[in-house]
Amino acid sequence: MRIAMIGAGYVGLVTGTCLADFGHDVVCVDTQADKVAALRVGRVPIYEPGLSELVLANQNAGRLSFTTSLKEAARGAKAVFIAVGTPSLAGVGSADLQYVHAAAREIAEVVEDFAVVVVKSTVPVGTCDDVERIIAERLPRERFAVVSNPEFLREGAAIEDFKAPDRIIVGVEDERAEAVMREMYRPMEGFAGPLVVTARRSSEMIKYAANVFLAMKVTFINEVADLCERVDADVVDVSRGIGLDKRIGARFLNPGPGFGGSCFPKDTLALTKLATDAKSPIRLVETLVDVNQKRMVAMARKIAGACGGSVAGKRIAILGLTYKPKTDDMRDAPSLVIVPELQAAGARIVAYDPEGAKMAGPLLPGVEFAENAYACLQGADAAAIVTEWDEFRALDLLRVKAALKTPIVVDLRNIYPIKMMKDLGFRYVSIGRGYNGEG
Ligand SMILES: NC(=O)c1ccc[n+]([C@@H]2O[C@H](COP(=O)([O-])OP(=O)(O)OC[C@H]3O[C@@H](n4cnc5c(N)ncnc54)[C@H](O)[C@@H]3O)[C@@H](O)[C@H]2O)c1
Repeated sequence: MRIAMIGAGYVGLVTGTCLADFGHDVVCVDTQADKVAALRVGRVPIYEPGLSELVLANQNAGRLSFTTSLKEAARGAKAVFIAVGTPSLAGVGSADLQYVHAAAREIAEVVEDFAVVVVKSTVPVGTCDDVERIIAERLPRERFAVVSNPEFLREGAAIEDFKAPDRIIVGVEDERAEAVMREMYRPMEGFAGPLVVTARRSSEMIKYAANVFLAMKVTFINEVADLCERVDADVVDVSRGIGLDKRIGARFLNPGPGFGGSCFPKDTLALTKLATDAKSPIRLVETLVDVNQKRMVAMARKIAGACGGSVAGKRIAILGLTYKPKTDDMRDAPSLVIVPELQAAGARIVAYDPEGAKMAGPLLPGVEFAENAYACLQGADAAAIVTEWDEFRALDLLRVKAALKTPIVVDLRNIYPIKMMKDLGFRYVSIGRGYNGEG
C-alpha cells in the first residue's frame, strides 16, 4: 500500500518507518527542509533507539523516502496520515490545532483519486469532524474519508511499541476507510493486540483518557511517596505491594520529580480545557495538573534541603536532563523547572546528559555542560540524579565520592539502595523511602 505521512517528527517518522518495514511504500513529508535533507542522506535528526538502522534499511530497500512536497508524497497514496504536532496553546491550555488544520487544507489540494485521511496526532474530540469539513470545502466527500487512529508509542521504546502495540484503535464510520485501515495493519496481526474499531469521537477520547489515566497513576504514587517520607514507610515496597494487584498493575508506579515530556503535560491540560468547555469539568485531572507543576519546584527545594537549606554559591551537578531516558526529547522535562529554580536560588549548574545536551543547551542558559558523568561531578557541592539513564545506575561510587567536594547525592529516581549509599558515607536523599531528615 502506498502511504503518505505528513510530519516526520517522533511519531510520523517512527510510524512511517515501521509501516515501510512491514512492506508498505511510505513517503514522509515535512515542512522543515533541513530535516528532510538530513533524512534523505540517512541522518535521523532525533535520538530513538534502533530508528537510524531501520530508516536506512527501508530507504535502501526503496520503501521509504522523504520530501517537502505533499503533492509528490500523495501521488497514488491510499492513505494520508496527519502526524503533526498539537502543542498547548499558550495561555489557554487547549491543543493548538493550526498544524492539523493546515495539513487538512493541503490534503484537499492533492488527493488524486480516493484517499483515507488518517489523523494520528493527538487531537481533542471533534477534530476529525473539523478536518473533514476543511477538506470538503475543496474536495467532494466521495473522494475521501477521515479516520482517527491515535498513537500510544513511548519515546525510547517507540519501534517496539509501534510494531507490537497492546491495541490499535481505529475510529472510523466509513466502510471503505475501515477496509483500508484493516489492510494497512494486517501485517501486524499475530504480534499486535486487537484492532478495535470505534466511532471517531470515541477514538479521539480514548487517547486523552489513556494518557491522563497514566499521568494520574504517576501523580498518585508521587503523592504517596511524599506521605511515605512523613510516616517513615518505603514507597518502593508500597509500589510493589499495590502493583502486584492485577487490578492496579505495576507500571507507571515509580515515584519521581513529576511527569514531563511531549504528551502528558499538554494532554492533561487539553483534557481539562475540553471538559470545561463541554461543561463537564474533570476535577481529578485539574488537581493533578496543579500537583505536578508544584512538584517540580518542590524538587529544587529538596535539593537545597539536602545541601543544608541553601544552594547559594554552590556548584550543583545534574545527572540527566531529558524527561526520561533513551530519548533526546526535552519537551516539558522536569529539569526545565528544577534547574532554573536552583539557579534563581544562587546555584551554579553543571550538567551531563547522554543524548539530551544538544536539545537542552538553548533551553537552559547559564548551564555548563560536561562530557561525562564523572566530569560533571568533579568539584561539585552536591549531585542530583534527575533522569534515570542506564549509565547512571552503576556509577563507580568511590569515584563519585572522590569527585564530589561534599558527598551529597539527591536521587530523584530512586536508583540506588539507601543502605549502600549510607555505608559508603554519602548523604543520600531519595524519594519516598522513609524519613530522610528533610523539612
Ligand atoms: N512524541 C510522542 O511520544 C507521542 C506519542 C503519541 C502521540 N503523539 C502525538 O503525535 C503528534 C506528533 O507528535 P511528535 O512528537 O511527533 O511531534 P514533532 O514536533 O516531533 O513532529 C511534528 C512534525 O510535523 C512537521 N509539520 C508540521 N506541520 C506540517 C505540515 N503542514 N506538513 C508537513 N510537516 C509538518 C514538523 O515540522 C515536525 O517535524 C502530536 O499530536 C503528539 O501529541 C506523540
